[in-house]
Amino acid sequence: MDFLPKNRARIENMPVLPYAIEEAINRLRVNISFQGSNIRKIMIISTMPDEGKSFVSMQLWRQMAEADVKSVLVDLDLRKSVMIDKYRICQEDGGRILGTSFYLANDIFLEECVLRTGIGKGDILPNNDNLVNPSMLLEGDKLEDTLNALAENYRYVIIDAPPMNLVSDGERIGSLCDGAILVVRGGETPKKMVHNSMRQLERAGCPLLGIALSRVQGSGGGYYYKQYGKGYYGSNYGYYADGR
Ligand SMILES: Nc1ncnc2c1ncn2[C@@H]1O[C@H](COP(=O)(O)OP(=O)(O)OP(=O)(O)O)[C@@H](O)[C@H]1O
Ligand SMILES: [Mg+2]
Repeated sequence: MDFLPKNRARIENMPVLPYAIEEAINRLRVNISFQGSNIRKIMIISTMPDEGKSFVSMQLWRQMAEADVKSVLVDLDLRKSVMIDKYRICQEDGGRILGTSFYLANDIFLEECVLRTGIGKGDILPNNDNLVNPSMLLEGDKLEDTLNALAENYRYVIIDAPPMNLVSDGERIGSLCDGAILVVRGGETPKKMVHNSMRQLERAGCPLLGIALSRVQGSGGGYYYKQYGKGYYGSNYGYYADGR
């Protein structure tokens, strides 16, 4: 039986992107689609805060949904998610959005929490209750079961994660995903720290699908995307620049 979210949401503040950024995200989407049908649960991660994870997750999800690919965006930044406020997401019936941490902490059907949006084939599970310590929720079996249930119902489960350097949340989430996109803020994040994140992903058994360089000078503030093939340090990676 088809998974049918009970509630609908409006996303009132979705920005229109400059062409170069829209194109770079599109390239990321196309590259992901070439990774094969086993790659369904994809974590968007970065080393440090503020590198552009939530932006990439939201835009990648939107483009997939608009391309008629059934996709769900899962907000797993349970400590300091700003998605609902930033994009002005509201439930159409005026009800309170339950969200990821509420779902994980309570005995409730997933269909009550995932929201259908007006954006193509896109559904979302935002987080509405930020927690000081969500480790118990992330470590429990329920998260794994939830992501697997979503992966059976959606072609892509795009997961917005917290940064890797602060807490172990990212590693835990990565261990449940089929792959990760590492967002790196161009010219800001020290290489050593990026390599640390790559090692953490490796330890979590989460293949690195690609690196999205954000806010790169000379690219119109856009994204470069570097693909690392199927492995961690695959030799046949391509390099894509946008905006020129
Ligand atoms: N390519 C870009 N060019 C300019 N600004 C950007 C770009 N991508 C994201 N931003 C801005 O940078 C800020 C941080 O982005 P975002 O919230 O996506 O980062 P994050 O990695 O999710 O942060 P956090 O670690 O707090 O979750 C936001 O204000 C966002 O609008
Ligand atoms: Mg974020």
